[in-house]
Amino acid sequence: MKTVGTFAAARDLTAGVVGLVPTMGFLHEGHLALVDAARRECDTVVMSLFVNPLQFDETRDLSRYPRDPDRDAHLAGERGVDVLFAPELEEMYPRRQITRVRVSDVTEELEGRFRPGHFEGVTTVVAKLLAGTRADRAYFGRKDAQQLATVTRMAFDLSMPVEVVPVSIVRESDGLALSSRNVFLSPEERDRALRISVGLMAAAGAAEDGECSAEELELIVAGYLGDLEVDYVTLADADSVEPARRLEQDAFLAVAAHAGNTRLIDNVFFRVTSAGTEADRGNRLEGPSILYGGR
Ligand code: PAJ
Repeated sequence: MKTVGTFAAARDLTAGVVGLVPTMGFLHEGHLALVDAARRECDTVVMSLFVNPLQFDETRDLSRYPRDPDRDAHLAGERGVDVLFAPELEEMYPRRQITRVRVSDVTEELEGRFRPGHFEGVTTVVAKLLAGTRADRAYFGRKDAQQLATVTRMAFDLSMPVEVVPVSIVRESDGLALSSRNVFLSPEERDRALRISVGLMAAAGAAEDGECSAEELELIVAGYLGDLEVDYVTLADADSVEPARRLEQDAFLAVAAHAGNTRLIDNVFFRVTSAGTEADRGNRLEGPSILYGGR
């Protein structure tokens, strides 16, 4: 694996079908699942590692975002990344970024209500990454379902010659969705955070048993959340991210909640066909995550 700091150097190292895995680093098995998918389908796998200031609404969240570039490089290389593109701020934003990419509608509900400006920061940096690396395929986790929908729509609306590929959520062995932010949770907070995935799994079972009412599915999840401070529990259409009243086409049941000072999001994706509803519960690790010390 080669580590580079400029778009030009990254492009010089690519050939054939180029797969891009955009990340903000502090890698865990969720990011590495994106690498696995890219490795299967592409000739050159490029991972970007850039903590994008444009998408942080609170400077406190930006300054405390966990970073460990040496560990990231080790993990990425070991997993089969060919090119690690880790630009400094000056390469990504050499001048004031006055060109912004803003996707309307899809970004307005859920996270859009709680993180003003966040998705504009995401789509602007992802558009730059796609253009600068000339990626043919780009891999995004279902963990950030609204981000996935937003980037997919951006690529479509801007006629970008890229395939946006979704990858299932990777969960810790007890079900907690992997997130770089999990390292901030105290044992007690982690215990309470676990209710999010337990509730989602209960709703997944009900949906597969035929429950179609959004209200009922949301109530099932809410019933598990106890005293967590909840931002939303919402069933949303997978493409438009509009709240759905019934589960009649592909959708995701999404939760955002706070455990102490850490804000967590999670969801279950439902594929709806004439044969019925199938929940994507994600994939669980067998042992402890590399987030907690291992390499
Ligand atoms: P980051 O939070 O580092 O996530 C990078 C990618 O990993 C995203 O596509 C995210 O959905 C995926 N991911 C994170 N946790 C996951 C999990 N448990 N299972 C599966 N996939 C998971 O998302 C971003 O960075 C940024 O917004 C970015 C797209 C890089 C733009 O700055």
